Amino acid sequence: MGESMARMVPHHRDVRIPDFALERYFTEWEFNVEHVLCASDVEGFPMSELIALADTETRALWKGLNLGYTESTGHPLLRREIAATYESIEPDDVLTFAGAEEAIFCLMNVAVGPGDHVIVTWPGYQSLYEVARATGADITLHGLHESDGWAVDLDRLKSELRPTTKLIVVNTPHSPTGMMLDRTTYDGLIEIAEEGGIRLFMDEVYRGLEYDETDRLAAGADALPDGISLGVMSKAYAMAGLRIGWIATHDRDLLARLAAFKDYTTICSSGPSEILAIIALRARDRVLERSRGIIAANLELVDGFFEDYLDRFTWIRPSAGSVGFPRLTVPGVAIDDWAADLVKAEGVLILPGSVFGYAGNHFRFGLGRTDLPDALARLEKFASKTLR
Ligand SMILES: Cc1ncc(COP(=O)(O)O)c(C=O)c1O
Repeated sequence: MGESMARMVPHHRDVRIPDFALERYFTEWEFNVEHVLCASDVEGFPMSELIALADTETRALWKGLNLGYTESTGHPLLRREIAATYESIEPDDVLTFAGAEEAIFCLMNVAVGPGDHVIVTWPGYQSLYEVARATGADITLHGLHESDGWAVDLDRLKSELRPTTKLIVVNTPHSPTGMMLDRTTYDGLIEIAEEGGIRLFMDEVYRGLEYDETDRLAAGADALPDGISLGVMSKAYAMAGLRIGWIATHDRDLLARLAAFKDYTTICSSGPSEILAIIALRARDRVLERSRGIIAANLELVDGFFEDYLDRFTWIRPSAGSVGFPRLTVPGVAIDDWAADLVKAEGVLILPGSVFGYAGNHFRFGLGRTDLPDALARLEKFASKTLR
């Protein structure tokens, strides 16, 4: 850049946000290994099968699609289908984003800032607390512990509240632990939010993956007048490549501020992705059934493995979602080293807890991929040689 050009560039700040450790780890490995045994998404839905699910209207939309900009708030039919997944949400209570990730980025930037306090379940998806922290807000990580079955501890949560607490962020079903809030805890959480006038931001990207559908909790956006629900096509719907996510809330003022912020990020969604998401959501029962079927079959094998290796791993069986967070208990074997050796020897990728900044020899185990039987057999072969 010439000197005169450099003078024209306005003073800029460094990007003040730490690296997203999980994404950096995946960047190194995800597409260079034979088996990703730590993915949080479900095996990608085949495009040809999705197109076959289109009805007359969506087939015409797909065939007649042109590739211009789309409506910034999201295709009206898409918002209608998303709204239909809630009890009390109207299409105008929904704003779409490029995945859940953009929604988190915009929400934190709009909802919190310096002087605000935010409580976030942890270990967890890093942007839920890192983006909030980068806005200048104070963060308390509400630690989940294996010894509590990964449950949210309401008494401890109450003690973490401050007069400045503005947002409580809970991910359920949860990554990486596989925890799902039980109803009593959820009711207690809602009470705490209501009493304190604190907003609840529910990351529900794994909603729909309850192993027993009767366990499904009310969405945050339905449970509280100003509750905020985060949803996405990536996990339960197995379509991460669409990059279609959303926020649903009755708080229209918040949605308007989010829409104004989104003008600085993606402006609008990808047109083809919107139509494909409409097709998928109209066929959501079949799409979700496929996802739950893949997970159920895998879970049986994984349960069997951990039963055989009870003396070498802990395993809190998830009751929902596509991940679990076992712990390697063999003395003197560090999970980071073991994971590195495993990937070298067998081409199987697991995700050490250190990627979440969480000590204790845990690792995330993914349950949603169809190559799991082969991956697990390789892991077992390696475990039988290295963990005696
Ligand atoms: C809890 C949680 N929230 C949000 C996201 C982001 O979803 P997406 O990659 O579809 O933007 C993820 C992805 O792993 C996640 O696990």
